[in-house]
Amino acid sequence: MKVMEALGYAVAAYGVYFAVKCVRILRADCDLPTMRAKLPKDAYKGKVCWVTGASSGIGKAIAYQLVEQGATVIISARNVQKLNEAKADMVAKFGCPEGSVHVLPADLGALDSLPAVAEKALAAYGRLDVLVNNAGVTAFILGKDMSMEVLQNLMTTNFLGQVCITQKCLPALVKSKGTILNMVSRTGVISGLPYRTAYCASKHAMVGYFGALRSEHMEEIKVTNIYPGLVATNFCEASVTSDGDSFASKNKSGAKLFDLDKSTLTPERVADRSLAAAYNNIWDVWIWSNVLECLCFYFNQYSPEISKSTLIDGATKLRDNMGKEIEKSTKGH
Ligand SMILES: NC(=O)c1ccc[n+]([C@@H]2O[C@H](COP(=O)([O-])OP(=O)(O)OC[C@H]3O[C@@H](n4cnc5c(N)ncnc54)[C@H](OP(=O)(O)O)[C@@H]3O)[C@@H](O)[C@H]2O)c1
Repeated sequence: MKVMEALGYAVAAYGVYFAVKCVRILRADCDLPTMRAKLPKDAYKGKVCWVTGASSGIGKAIAYQLVEQGATVIISARNVQKLNEAKADMVAKFGCPEGSVHVLPADLGALDSLPAVAEKALAAYGRLDVLVNNAGVTAFILGKDMSMEVLQNLMTTNFLGQVCITQKCLPALVKSKGTILNMVSRTGVISGLPYRTAYCASKHAMVGYFGALRSEHMEEIKVTNIYPGLVATNFCEASVTSDGDSFASKNKSGAKLFDLDKSTLTPERVADRSLAAAYNNIWDVWIWSNVLECLCFYFNQYSPEISKSTLIDGATKLRDNMGKEIEKSTKGH
């Protein structure tokens, strides 16, 4: 009898523990190890960091937080004017010396140019401690309509370009026992978003490549992959259409494919948790903007069959709605 009673208490205690854990997960905006990860104010002080895609959004927020921490930062993107403005703003805001922010123009889609760009990054301060592979672009095009040119450009910008500069920086990162921080996406772990064939493929490629690279250099470097849900940036406006132009240039009606402005996930929050996760050597980081995205992550990971049935319903609706929005935006009504 006593054994049964003890067993009952144990089951009840576990039930309470499980319920508390579920509530904590649903109230958080990221997985619990990431939520708990500490980021001391000087975690990156004195480090030399290279951030790609630093002219806007998440990359810009990461660069700002690194400079605030006292790091020396190389910022890259195609838009040099925006990079120079960001540098001037950081110098004014944080009172850091001009020399602690280095503007390095780079087009991740121009593969042949990247070895020379990486050499310039390494020469800028003679060492490298942190490489943030953040630059990226998306496309809202059905797989059947995707031209090889657009697909190739997206795969190069989001994957091959990152691999190219990583390879070039690897000896320096090994020497400094450094960190690679990859801004992947929920689409790198959750398959099945319609209109995102190329984007999903490029982000899955990053997960595969950098997971294997981590294993090859386990004692020498740290690799952290970040999988954010919808973040409030200009990412959708910058997406490419089937003829290679940006969605913003075609969008006559002001249609929103995803209303990212309303996302609760800010670039600053993603930057903060990403830097905390990398500092604590967390390998895979889930960050979400709403409970639905949170459940998607957990079901996808722990119960793919449940995830499958929600996907069949959700993906079909999403495909039809997005098709209408894209048509409306390009026709202007
Ligand atoms: N926003 C989201 O919902 C979301 C969710 C998950 C993951 N992400 C990922 O987060 C990363 C940053 O995106 P974001 O949301 O911050 O969007 P964003 O504000 O549009 O920033 C994208 C950055 O990438 C740069 N970039 C784009 N194409 C490039 C190229 N060919 N060469 C060099 N730089 C290039 C852009 O600069 P230039 O245009 O000046 O070159 C910009 O600095 C991306 O990798 C994206 O996949 C975003």
